[in-house]
Amino acid sequence: MKTSHKLIFGDSEDMREVEGHSVHLVVTSPPYFNAPFDYPDLFDSYEAYLEKMRKVARELKRVVALGRVVCIVCDDTLIEGRKYPVVADLTKIYIGEGFIYRDKIIWVKPEGYIRISRRSGVILQHPYPMYFYPDNIQETILIFQNGKFDYNSIDKATREGSRIDVTEYQRQKWYLTTWAITNVLPLQNRLERGITAFPDEIAYRLIKLFSHVGETVLDPFMGSGTTNKVARLLQRNSIGYEIDLELMDVVKEKIASVDSGLFEDECDLEIFVRDEAKHMRTQLQEVISNRRSVAKAAKK
Ligand SMILES: C[S@@+](CC[C@H](N)C(=O)[O-])C[C@H]1O[C@@H](n2cnc3c(N)ncnc32)[C@H](O)[C@@H]1O
Repeated sequence: MKTSHKLIFGDSEDMREVEGHSVHLVVTSPPYFNAPFDYPDLFDSYEAYLEKMRKVARELKRVVALGRVVCIVCDDTLIEGRKYPVVADLTKIYIGEGFIYRDKIIWVKPEGYIRISRRSGVILQHPYPMYFYPDNIQETILIFQNGKFDYNSIDKATREGSRIDVTEYQRQKWYLTTWAITNVLPLQNRLERGITAFPDEIAYRLIKLFSHVGETVLDPFMGSGTTNKVARLLQRNSIGYEIDLELMDVVKEKIASVDSGLFEDECDLEIFVRDEAKHMRTQLQEVISNRRSVAKAAKK
């Protein structure tokens, strides 16, 4: 099936290119609030971050079709020993904007791939009460719904064409509230270098579970374009918003990577660049690498 993909480089607090109630599913992962090794000092304050998230939620309420679902991969952020309750605050924001809180899935990563700090070591040095700081191997997938879904609104052919493989569903344990999925590994030459991408498998499950073939999936924080790539693979259309112009080539390459070469699998790609789009990655990477050098020097 031929699909179309619209990539907009601009701020998703305003999705003027998207008509009201025209999106059938949202799969996204917002920036991790000022995470020291991903988005250092991107937002002026936690309040400013939450305000941005609220504006995007408000736009999503406008563009998402009635009864349809918004899935948000997110996590609390730890900065200089302080935990910011992003998961709880996003839940409140989405409920406040009129969404129904439908579910919460915990994405569990393999223990061997903890990327940031191993906080649990503290108790090995101080084996006494009050020194416990667990290592984080999870993220949360929040699932909200825009009102009640009309199951009769989908014609029989579309429904059958979107049938879920129950063998895969059972074998991979999609039915649980915990999903064990390997994160994108920090290999040197990966396409997603410098982007906190989620693995294809997350988008794959959510798109299969909450949309039909030929429908439109939106990611307001597109990053490397994982949602768009998997949407194409699963014969859905996609729309993506990304503030950082430097990611354009990565997204194009990622969407092209599922090219089957078959005429019927061709896709239309439209790209729009708005005035507020920025060049961000190189600058962020510089700040991160300076911080790493300072941290290394301090250890010596
Ligand atoms: C966690 S990443 C998304 C990664 C994506 N899920 C993937 O698999 O590659 C969040 C992205 O949101 C982008 N972003 C931050 N603020 C934005 C805004 N206001 N509008 C659009 N994109 C934004 C960041 O540049 C970053 O690429």
